[in-house]
Amino acid sequence: MESLLMPWFESSGRDLPWRATHDPYAILVSEVMLQQTQVERVVPRYLAWLERWPTVESLAGATAADVIREWQGLGYNRRALNLHRSARRVAAQGWPDDLTELSGVGPYTAAAVRRFAFGEDVLPIDVNVERVLRRTKGRFFPRAAEALMDLGATVCIARTPRCEACPLSRACPSRDIREAPARKQGPFEGSFRQQRAATLRAVAESARVLGDLDHEAVRSLERDGLVVVEEGVVALPIRERGS
Ligand code: ADE
Repeated sequence: MESLLMPWFESSGRDLPWRATHDPYAILVSEVMLQQTQVERVVPRYLAWLERWPTVESLAGATAADVIREWQGLGYNRRALNLHRSARRVAAQGWPDDLTELSGVGPYTAAAVRRFAFGEDVLPIDVNVERVLRRTKGRFFPRAAEALMDLGATVCIARTPRCEACPLSRACPSRDIREAPARKQGPFEGSFRQQRAATLRAVAESARVLGDLDHEAVRSLERDGLVVVEEGVVALPIRERGS
């Protein structure tokens, strides 16, 4: 099947900025952003991030407060702190052999960095790749990773696959089979996540008195290290630069 997939990728694959680099730091930034945020939203934020902090050392030297502020709007703000922590560790000790030792790096993200930065022979399996493998029952080499991601994101999509546009359709045992819709994440509107996000946004703008904010949201952000509360004032954490 790979011989059908790769020509399609050449002509129809996505041209994404993190595919123009093998810098492990840049790849890590892209993968952490992509963990829970859509590609179109990530592209401009990835470019802005790398312009501000082009190297792992520069990010390691930033304050947590600046990192949280730069992350605003991407969602799941703990990722920002994890990325910052990882940058500090890599700046101090280099890249670990086992990348899952880095904060916020699980097996998928580790495999993606190994594949896209270090060129290792591992296939990172995200939800899109998993769906293509399951439907096609195909065997693919790691070099097909980006092609599989793009096919899964644009053609072999979750509910109604576009089999008529698929380069693998004539070899695919699941051709034209629709699947029951997967359960979607609950609505963001009105959720605790939204309350947390709004609270962090307010604190990122300027420190606030606790009484003006949602207590539960503040406690939850505090537990995650995203804010600090001192004498009734809620602020972003400012750890010493480079510490
Ligand atoms: N290319 C490399 N990693 C990717 C990802 N996680 N999503 C989409 N395209 C990618």
